[in-house]
Amino acid sequence: MHRGFTLWFTGLSGAGKSTLSEAISGRFRERGYRVELLDGDEVRTHLSRGLGFSKEDRDTNVRRIGYVARLLARNGVIAITAAISPYAELRDEVRAATEADGAAFVEVYASCPIEVLAERDVKGLYKKAIAGEIAHFTGVSDPYEPPAKPEVTVESDKETVDQSVRRILGYLESRGLIG
Ligand code: ADX
Repeated sequence: MHRGFTLWFTGLSGAGKSTLSEAISGRFRERGYRVELLDGDEVRTHLSRGLGFSKEDRDTNVRRIGYVARLLARNGVIAITAAISPYAELRDEVRAATEADGAAFVEVYASCPIEVLAERDVKGLYKKAIAGEIAHFTGVSDPYEPPAKPEVTVESDKETVDQSVRRILGYLESRGLIG
């Protein structure tokens, strides 16, 4: 058996949070681990339906995700989250609450230069944001505060999904969180 913990991805839109969190959930499921994925876009269609992108709404969104992840983690589930979660203070708040419950909180920073993201522009949002058509777009017209001391940093412009997944699994093994 494994212990529950929260694997918290943070990073700009398009930096690889969803891709990596899905890949890693698959790896956990293969091993028979209990895992639940709270993806930013999906949370916003269910748990956080109606919330926008003001600081207040983002904070509410991140607190909700943190709360659900904490309930899962303390019941032996590996809770993986993939929301931009742009504010360091909120991530630290969620970390403290999770650790107070006796579960580990592992922050993974999906780092990628904004120029690369704007060039890729998978959802076509960066182009619009740069043109001023989307107000408060993270990284363009709204803040993103990178973690000061993330447990793992992955760089989607420099490494493959498989390499990032292996590094994250390696870290979790070194912490004794997975076998
Ligand atoms: S968070 O800031 O509250 O953590 P979340 O991860 O849920 O953000 O949602 C981010 C996704 O919403 C992005 O990947 C993008 O597809 C979409 N989105 C729409 N408007 C914005 C915006 N103003 N800033 C960032 N993302 C936006």
